[in-house]
Amino acid sequence: MHRTVHPPIHRTVHPSILYVGTPVVLIGTLNEDGSPNLAPISSAWWLGWNCMLGFGANSKTPQNLQRTRQCTINLPSVAEVSQVNRLARLTGSDPVPPHKQAKGYTFCADKFGASGLTAEDAELVDAPLVRECPLQMEAELTAAHPFAPETNGSLVALEVRILRVHAHPQLLMEPEGNRINPSKWRPLIMSFCEFYGLGEQVHHSRLAEIPEDLYRPARVKEMMTNAMQETPVS
Ligand SMILES: Cc1cc2nc3c(=O)[nH]c(=O)nc-3n(C[C@H](O)[C@H](O)[C@H](O)COP(=O)(O)O)c2cc1C
Repeated sequence: MHRTVHPPIHRTVHPSILYVGTPVVLIGTLNEDGSPNLAPISSAWWLGWNCMLGFGANSKTPQNLQRTRQCTINLPSVAEVSQVNRLARLTGSDPVPPHKQAKGYTFCADKFGASGLTAEDAELVDAPLVRECPLQMEAELTAAHPFAPETNGSLVALEVRILRVHAHPQLLMEPEGNRINPSKWRPLIMSFCEFYGLGEQVHHSRLAEIPEDLYRPARVKEMMTNAMQETPVS
């Protein structure tokens, strides 16, 4: 087989971080004494109604999540960037672990107070939702996966099952419907540690032509059927 040889247009680089641009999420958990903790992370991705969350293992949040097996995942929009930024370099760990001290982290017992965000009760889990976040999810831990074994357990990937989703009605395609309108959702993105928003839609998507109902997991269909049966007929 012949391969055309082109002159290289890339060079090998060694960036310290590889945060290539992912949404910021705020993870709500409960501390041992029942007080709420809130942590921004950007290592989160979803498959169906399941989500993988990536943490430095000695942060307070993964410790809380593994102990209580419950959390909330709150997605700020670009409008909440100042509040999110106030959470940066705060930890619920006391004492502050040495590697965080070296980066200028300080202990904070009241992250909601420090950020100016509002805690509200979740419906199914014992963990705080963030009222200002237009998208909120309640979740339970399903698995803890080893990650980057060469770091001797300093990183952990925690898999959670989404139990309930709350959306601000302004994000929806139709007020009574279930579909999020991507043109209205303005997620806060972290790219190489800086904050960005999304630009405008750049192209029509062939994938988006597939009816969304075909993606709905069986357990979510069941939830919807149960919810319809519980709704009183007026
Ligand atoms: C925008 C943003 C994104 C972050 N992404 C991550 C991440 O993906 N994983 C992680 O472990 N920490 C991440 N951090 C750092 C955590 O917020 C930090 O470890 C914090 O101390 C966690 O709080 P806790 O110790 O109370 O759990 C991020 C911080 C900011 C501000």
